[in-house]
This record gives sequence, C-alpha cells and structure tokens, in this order.
Amino acid sequence: MPDTGVTKILIREEEIAKIVAGLGEEITQHYRESGGELMVVGLLRGSVVFMADLIRKIHYPLVLDFMAVSSYGDGTVSSGDVKIVMDLDESVEGKHVLLVEDIIDTGTTFQKVIRMMKNRNPKSLKVCTFLNKPSRRKFDVPIDFCGKDIPDEFVCGYGLDFAQKYRNLPYVGVLGE
Ligand code: IMP
Ligand code: MG
Repeated sequence: MPDTGVTKILIREEEIAKIVAGLGEEITQHYRESGGELMVVGLLRGSVVFMADLIRKIHYPLVLDFMAVSSYGDGTVSSGDVKIVMDLDESVEGKHVLLVEDIIDTGTTFQKVIRMMKNRNPKSLKVCTFLNKPSRRKFDVPIDFCGKDIPDEFVCGYGLDFAQKYRNLPYVGVLGE
C-alpha cells in the first residue's frame, strides 16, 4: 500500500462513487416530492469530501452551510463531550435541512446536533451519513439516507481522519497496528 499506515482498503473509489450516486438519487427524489428550500449542512471537517461529491449528485436547488462540532480530540474514542466550535451562518427556520455526516459511530455527536437543530424550527430535518457503525450505537439517531454500514473498525480516508491525517485518501481504509 503506497500510503503508510493503511493495511486494508474497505471501500474503493469505484464503490464510493456508486454509493454517492445512489444517495444523490434518493435525496433528489425526496426533495422533488416535498418541494421547498433546501439547506445542506455539513459537519466539519469529516463530511467535506463526501459533501462535495454528494451535492453534485443532488439535482434540486440547494444552499450550503457548515457547522463544526468536536467530540474526539485526537483520539479514536468519543469523549462524549460535544462542543460547537463553529455555528451556521444562516438561519434554518422554515427550510428543509439535510445534515451531512461522514460517519455515525456511537451517535453521541449527532444526537446533540439533532436536538439543537430541531430547536431552531426547520421545516424538516433529515440526516445523511456516508458511513454507519450500528454495532457501536449508544444513542438512537434517525438516519434517513445511509451510504454503507461498516463493522466496528476504525477507518480513515475520504474525509475521515486519524489525528487529522489521511482525509485526502480517495478510498476508505483501515489502519494497521
Ligand atoms: P460519535 O459521536 O461516536 O457518533 O462519533 C462521531 C464522529 O467521530 C464522526 O463524525 C467522526 O468524526 C468520528 N469517528 C467515528 N468513527 C470514526 C472512524 O472509524 N474513523 C474516523 N473518524 C471516526
Ligand atoms: Mg473526526
């Protein structure tokens, strides 16, 4: 493997492209049926790569906004302490909000973000995640659009990091010991 540290590729570029195209179709169809203004909200920084690909597969008018929350520090285990590091620029009131996340693991982060968003009175609130680790869930998180369920392994690449590194890998890989 040319990129040091990655010992196994879990999802190749071709599969990622298919997953993203499928999600884009589902999302397009959903909002065409419901109508109204759509705001796609990405959680920084992990969702950036996925979001950039995803929005080009959504054939429905939309605006983007971003929010940064932190729960991990530089480790691989969620600390449970979720902080809003950067808030949205625009109001979500009366708009359809689609929250985009790289991975939902224990659900700690997302459960808090969802609760906060709901208090801001969007017209609707939907969740799209690229990856999902259902076996690790501690908090119930409603996922409307899910790219792929993966086993309990720490993955990186395609936006996902280990201590801020590996986000630029075009595939999803597992780090070795
Ligand atoms: P949760 O709060 O436990 O659901 O964790 C959510 C956040 O932890 C995600 O947005 C990721 O940034 C990070 N995370 C969880 N699992 C992984 C992984 O396998 N690789 C990289 N980051 C992860
Ligand atoms: Mg992260």
